[in-house]
Amino acid sequence: MDAMIKTPVAENAPRIAREKPLKIKARNVDVYYGEKHAIKDLSIDIPDSAVSAFIGPSGCGKSTFLRSINRMNDTIPSCRVTGRIEIDNRDIYDKNLDVVQLRARIGMVFQKPNPFPKSIYENVAYGPKIHGLARNKTDLEEVVVTSLKKAGLFEEVKDRLDHPGTGLSGGQQQRLCIARAIAVNPQVILMDEPCSALDPIATARIEELIDELRQNFCIVIVTHSMQQAARVSQLTAFFHLGNLVEVGDTDDIFTSPKDKRTQDYITGRFG
Ligand SMILES: Nc1ncnc2c1ncn2[C@@H]1O[C@H](COP(=O)(O)OP(=O)(O)OP(=O)(O)O)[C@@H](O)[C@H]1O
Ligand SMILES: [Mg+2]
Repeated sequence: MDAMIKTPVAENAPRIAREKPLKIKARNVDVYYGEKHAIKDLSIDIPDSAVSAFIGPSGCGKSTFLRSINRMNDTIPSCRVTGRIEIDNRDIYDKNLDVVQLRARIGMVFQKPNPFPKSIYENVAYGPKIHGLARNKTDLEEVVVTSLKKAGLFEEVKDRLDHPGTGLSGGQQQRLCIARAIAVNPQVILMDEPCSALDPIATARIEELIDELRQNFCIVIVTHSMQQAARVSQLTAFFHLGNLVEVGDTDDIFTSPKDKRTQDYITGRFG
């Protein structure tokens, strides 16, 4: 009987991947820095409207893979990416693809808050301006205010939008960077250890924010904090020595990991 019903997602796929539409699909991805083989034959499905966490010991390739999702690795001359990465079913390494447009659709937030040396307002207005997302000044103002509100920063800065972004506290700067990232209405937000320079209170605020943003974005976060991965993510991917060892629903990864290496890592035996 060949009347097999084709299901789009395998039955053994993580729950979250079955519940949400697929956003990012990577197949057989290898990343090299010269001779160094930093990512080995990686395949993963990353769902939309969810937070996916990349965890694993230092040097295992988390940032490398994250950077291959918005082609930031293109800026590293020795770096070579092979395999296929699709976002919304489009090959992002397609020669005809406009990388500037791609990066506009994929926001990135880094470990160290890095506001531009400009006013709070300009930090957020810059992206929408260069991408032509506002028709006039009123439009632009609205985008800035909305983005600051979504980033949970507006109330704290509304009276000093013309002050330098660099004058804010670390946690506020990171929320400013998140406001800047969401101002261009991206579909994916990549965060590489966004809280590692922040105190616990600022961290808690960012985590709350990530939880709110997940309604509307596909979020991928790299974190060294297992507690953070458990708190904010629905999908967790464990990396080890360039291999994606295990990926699953966050609850499952932390309660019943299948691979010994995952188990050792989450119980603090290495890393
Ligand atoms: N620009 C580069 N040139 C050469 N090798 C690099 C470069 N960036 C990273 N690597 C190497 O690739 C491997 C993966 O590094 P990557 O930064 O992706 O790890 P990571 O998991 O993000 O680590 P960490 O948790 O310390 O941030 C490491 O062996 C690293 O030394
Ligand atoms: Mg890293």
